[in-house]
Amino acid sequence: MIDLDRNQAHQILHIDANQLPQGLRGKITIPGDKSISHRSLMLGSVAEGETTIRGLLLGEDPRSTAACFAAMGAEISELNSELVTVKGIGLGNLKEPLDVLNAGNSGTTLRLMLGILASHPDRFFTVTGDASLRSRPMSRVVNPLRQMGAHIWGRENGARAPLAVSGQNLKAIHYQSPVASAQVKSCLMLAGLMTDGETTITEPERSRDHSERMLAAFGANVRVDIATNTVIVKGGAKLIGQEVTVPGDISSAAFWLVAASIVPDSDLLIENVGINPTRTGILEVLAEMGADITYENQREVTGEPVADLRVRSAHLKGCRIGGAVIPRLIDEIPILAIAAACAEGTTIIEDAAELRVKESDRIVAMVQELTKLGANVTEHPDGMEIVGGKILTGTEVDSYDDHRVAMSLAIAALVAKGKTIINRAESAAISYPSFIPTLQGLYN
Ligand code: S3P
Repeated sequence: MIDLDRNQAHQILHIDANQLPQGLRGKITIPGDKSISHRSLMLGSVAEGETTIRGLLLGEDPRSTAACFAAMGAEISELNSELVTVKGIGLGNLKEPLDVLNAGNSGTTLRLMLGILASHPDRFFTVTGDASLRSRPMSRVVNPLRQMGAHIWGRENGARAPLAVSGQNLKAIHYQSPVASAQVKSCLMLAGLMTDGETTITEPERSRDHSERMLAAFGANVRVDIATNTVIVKGGAKLIGQEVTVPGDISSAAFWLVAASIVPDSDLLIENVGINPTRTGILEVLAEMGADITYENQREVTGEPVADLRVRSAHLKGCRIGGAVIPRLIDEIPILAIAAACAEGTTIIEDAAELRVKESDRIVAMVQELTKLGANVTEHPDGMEIVGGKILTGTEVDSYDDHRVAMSLAIAALVAKGKTIINRAESAAISYPSFIPTLQGLYN
């Protein structure tokens, strides 16, 4: 039994595992990749000519991006997953918005957009977000943008939104980022588009490279040195509208990869999943844990590798998750914590302090809620230790208003004895509005 109670101030998801038939079987498709959706809307907006986007994620986060860029003059058709058209207004031509730009819950919208705004001379912008986003660190982009000459003000000397930006002619810099973050890298790459020289960003580990791929496709002058985790953007190139097809989001597929692994008697085909190597840490870790996942129909879709993934139930074993793989699976750690709780032996998640500055403190959220379900989990400053194999028992848990926590807990509920009640389940709509209907459909 899977029921969503929408009649409260917040949605409450009820899952009674005792009343679910065993096994997740059949075929599902997943929504478009969130990172690629944001980038296609942003680049389409500042390119010349028309961009078409097929497979756009209709989650609340890309809606925030679309609303911000529409407020600055981009003509974006009604959002749907079939075909969205964006009439770009050309780099440097964004209009000064009449009101505050609101990025909602989306760190990607706010941080990437800042790079574009800061490099638009003679215009003034104010940007904000919801309570979660206003508490998240912005100095990681504000500081290097200031080194480029940006004028940005905000709470705590620009460390937190709301922020005010007075666009300037920026200068190219070489930035050694202390954090492996695609949002930082992409923000500076976008700022570098309008400078005279070469903007170089080096990161400690490699983060997702969707900006590099898409910027190159739109005509930007981008080079990548994989050996040193460095990207170089030469300013001055024109961006030209493109046809983009967004692959399915591996971060959304992750819920089903784990669900079908831990629910006995499962055999599920997840179609059209983006398998960009900077995102496939989840597949490598699940393989190490003993998951049974095969790749079918591998192909390339607008410069991004894609496959159908077939996953069958498996006996999982604990493992160590840390080091260079972390940025390649950072968003999948909440659902990997569920896999670890159901695995035999101990899983150690380390080098993942970044989880504390996501939509919620995901270390605290997962440790607290898994503990309520009966798992043996210990919080560490940079991760957690999970001794798997304890039987999970349904109880009342909370999403922390974090989409990935909500969906991870829903998957845990499929294997927890009895009834699990997940409060604030509506947050799933940030990245996966059809998550609950897809889950219900799998048991019909
Ligand atoms: C994203 C980068 C990651 C990720 C986020 C999306 C992106 O954040 O967690 O969900 O689209 O660039 P960081 O760059 O802060 O690690």
